[in-house]
Amino acid sequence: MIQEKQILNIEKIRADFPILSRQVNGKPLVYFDNGATSQKPQEVIDVIDRYYQNENSNIHRGIHTLSQEATTAYEEARLVVQKFINAKHEHEMIFTSGTTGGINLVASSFGKKFLNKGDEVIISTMEHHSNIVPWQMICEEKGAVLKVVPINDKGEFLMEEYDKLLSENTKIVAVTHVSNTLGTINPVKEIIQKAHQKGAYVLIDGAQAVPHTKVDVQELDCDFYAFSGHKMLGPTGVGILYGKEEVLNQLPPYQGGGDMIKTVTFEKTTYNELPHKFEAGTPNIVGGLGLAAAIQYMNEVGIENIEAYEHELLSYATVQIKKIERIRIIGEATQKASVLSFVVDGTHPSDIGMIIDKLGVAIRTGHHCTEPLMNRFNIPGTARASFSFYNTKEEIDVFIQAVERAVKMLR
Ligand code: ALA
Repeated sequence: MIQEKQILNIEKIRADFPILSRQVNGKPLVYFDNGATSQKPQEVIDVIDRYYQNENSNIHRGIHTLSQEATTAYEEARLVVQKFINAKHEHEMIFTSGTTGGINLVASSFGKKFLNKGDEVIISTMEHHSNIVPWQMICEEKGAVLKVVPINDKGEFLMEEYDKLLSENTKIVAVTHVSNTLGTINPVKEIIQKAHQKGAYVLIDGAQAVPHTKVDVQELDCDFYAFSGHKMLGPTGVGILYGKEEVLNQLPPYQGGGDMIKTVTFEKTTYNELPHKFEAGTPNIVGGLGLAAAIQYMNEVGIENIEAYEHELLSYATVQIKKIERIRIIGEATQKASVLSFVVDGTHPSDIGMIIDKLGVAIRTGHHCTEPLMNRFNIPGTARASFSFYNTKEEIDVFIQAVERAVKMLR
């Protein structure tokens, strides 16, 4: 059990992540690209290793012992996720390849069933491409209209503009819980309530929220909530789409194949029950087990502790970076998760990223898959540091010194 010291026992936590002790370019690694993907604790690595060494087998298909064991472990992983996000039923957890997979599933299946010519879909200016493009594709196919809620200069969702866009024509609202580029935490509960008042459904992109804050899908009352394993200590290639039972039951299947059927003849196929109806083909079995191990690790640390500690890191980094000349923070919402995006006037973000990489500091630079958001701020991209609970203030000091050096070099 992890002991608390201050908010977290950071030395113990860091020791659980083998990669954090490596050097990059001759310097200790400072990993601030957690928004892109998080690092993995030994527990998760061990689960993956153990599965392929001892347990590997296909699920839902075999009567032999290995298959039964793998099936049980996979279904237990589903229960771990259900508890973590407080869903009502385990069959409301659809295993996907990640957030992108989940959103594409909803856009396609929901769109086929519910979107008609002239119907409207609402997203926001700060969406990731994965919560823009699937909606554009289905809107184009069905003759529906995509509407975009603007943001203010701090990077906050404009509720009064949302109110104006919502109407009886709105069929679904799809917004991010936390912006990957700005760190803005959106008032999703209010967004959901307002959509429901108009009879519209709501999908929340939770990729950047679930790793950092407590998510309770029943309390939010969202219809769909999508997130990825790899941003929350788990493996890549696995994610979850939560959907309310009564909504999922109305949707047609997304992909056809094994496991999603009840019976097949050449004349007619009948579909399986939830969640299998949406899980065609052999899934990422070890991914599901790794995701459950990641959640168990987060539960041990405590999501409230993670949130409080990361908030301290963000506040500290924000104060420090503002001391550097020519730095402009992009994304200054009152409610923010641990993302610090910035530009240095007169320089390109990738130059900053390359220089500080030589000093062992990993950040992401560019448009962060949010090109329309970059256009809103009239910039080509940002440099983005994104923190996790295994990061430290000492690492922020190294990062700040590295950025200072880069800014001087690029003068
Ligand atoms: N969406 C991920 C990011 O923000 C990849 O970096």
